[in-house]
Parts: sequence; structure tokens; C-alpha cells
Amino acid sequence: LGMPSVGDRDLLLAAPRGYCAGVDRAVITVEKALDLYGAPVYVRKQIVHNKHVVQTLEARGAVFVEELDEVPTGQTVVFSAHGVSPAVQADAAERGLKTIDATCPLVTKVHHEAKRFAREGYHILLIGHAGHEEVEGTSGEAPDSITLVETVDDVDAIEFGPDARLSWLSQTTLSVDETLAIVDRLREKFPQLEDPPSDDICYATQNRQLAVKEIAAGADLMIVVGSANSSNSVRLVEVALEAGAKASYRVDDVTEIREEWLEGVERVGVTSGASVPEELVEGVTSFLNERGFPAARAVHTAEESLIFALPPELRRDLRAAG
Ligand code: F3S
Repeated sequence: LGMPSVGDRDLLLAAPRGYCAGVDRAVITVEKALDLYGAPVYVRKQIVHNKHVVQTLEARGAVFVEELDEVPTGQTVVFSAHGVSPAVQADAAERGLKTIDATCPLVTKVHHEAKRFAREGYHILLIGHAGHEEVEGTSGEAPDSITLVETVDDVDAIEFGPDARLSWLSQTTLSVDETLAIVDRLREKFPQLEDPPSDDICYATQNRQLAVKEIAAGADLMIVVGSANSSNSVRLVEVALEAGAKASYRVDDVTEIREEWLEGVERVGVTSGASVPEELVEGVTSFLNERGFPAARAVHTAEESLIFALPPELRRDLRAAG
């Protein structure tokens, strides 16, 4: 058979891909905080789940910490896009830290839903991944009223009577199809289950999954640029395989691509998670061009124009600084 000739090859780029409005805002928040207050600016957890973004900000003077006890009193700390529990907010106040909250507004929306449901006496079945920072933050809003559901099978172990008021919420970066399957199972078992007022899986997650499905169906290889701890990036690999891609791999950047992945491959699709700078995608497409793949063709499945204002506490300081 041999390698396909150049003419048979195709390189498709999912659109939309890469930065969402929440990531863009969180990264700019740290950059502006560095400009305004000077280094160091502390950031609790990775500001967004991308290795390159974190390294770039570190080089500019951001100091990433796991917990607030690593931040000296009086310093400024930024909360990451994934959100924090009220306990973390209280801890920061107690320690005399100046805080800037870069939580994505779409995560904050889920926090509000959790608080409201809990206040109204509901028990919340929170669909998400144990240990993910977003889940820890959301759960912290009503720890006694929330049960985590990770898989369809988890539903079997959940017990509530027919009179229990139940609702569900989800992490913002899950697989849409998997989440619907879990909700179906929940509803079968608990017909009284109340839906959230709006989608918790955010527009960016949904759009990136839709775009990947469009491309993956006919792809021999789907490359997803994103970090291993990025929930939405990892989901894109799964969605690509479910949609029919013959193979799909996640890479942090071009250096992780293995030549053997390209053997016998004609159609390659490329996308990136919501926390991935576009230059990393360009690195991947250039690499493929050098190996005989034609210029990338973007396949558009949605337009995105959402932009979030910077955190109000930062805007105030920026204004005061003139
Ligand atoms: Fe926000 Fe969704 Fe991005 S929740 S941070 S817009 S992936």
C-alpha cells in the first residue's frame, strides 16, 4: 500500500477550538495583576489547566500555590477559573490576603444554583469528577446537600425515598452525551428529579465537542492539544473516538506527537481544549505541513463572541491606578 500521496491527504481544524471566554479572562486577570501590583502575584492552583499557560505566567512573576498557607500575609492571591468554596474565601479573609476572583462566571452560576437548591431543601446530585477543583468548589457551597455522581453505574448506589426533593447539577466541562446518559438513569430511578434552570455544561465545552464530532467521523487521526489535567481536553479525545475517529491522542504540544501515529494516515483532525493558547495548535499544524499534509482547512460549526468583564475588584484597582 505504501504511504498515501500528498494529494489524498487532508488536515482539518475544528472551529471553535482553544480559549473560551472564561480562560481568556482568567489569564488576562493574572497578567493585569502582575502589571498593576508587580511580582509576585500568588495564584491558588493552576489559573487554568494548561502547562504552557502556567509556565509563561510563572516566568512573569506569578507564584502558583496549592493552598493559602503558602501565601504570606498581606499579599495578593488570585483564585483560579475553576472556582473556590466559601471555606477558601473565608480562609483568605482570615489570613489578611487581598483576593482577586478569576472564577469563570459560568462556574459561579453553578455555585448560585447549588446554593439556591440547597436553601430550598433539595438534595443535589452533582455530576462531575471527584477531586476536580471545580467540583470541590461547587460542593463546598452546600457540602451536606450534595452527592457526587461520576458515572451511570454510580446511580445504583444512591438511595433516596420518593418524597425526597432532588435536583441535579454538573461540572461545566463534561461530555454532553455521557452527562445526558447519567441524567436519564437518575430520572428513571428518581422521577421527581428537578432540572437545573439552564445548562451547566458551558457553551465552550458544548461547542468544542460538537466541532470535534463533525471532524472526527471521517478522521484517521484526531490530535487534541491540551494538558492531561484539563477536563474538557480529555473529554475531546473521548468524544473524537466515540464519533468515529480511528485514533485520537492528546498532546501538550507538538513535541509529544509520535511519527508512527502518522503511518498510513490520510485525514488528520486537530482541535484544542478551552485552556490552550493558539500558538500550540499552530505548532502542531506546521509539523503536519512539514510532513506533507496540506494547509489546514477550518471546519466551522459555531461562532463564539462571548467576552467576560474582568473581576470587579481588579477593575476597581485598574481605574484607581489611572
Ligand atoms: Fe468557563 Fe466553560 Fe471556559 S465554564 S472557563 S467558559 S470551559
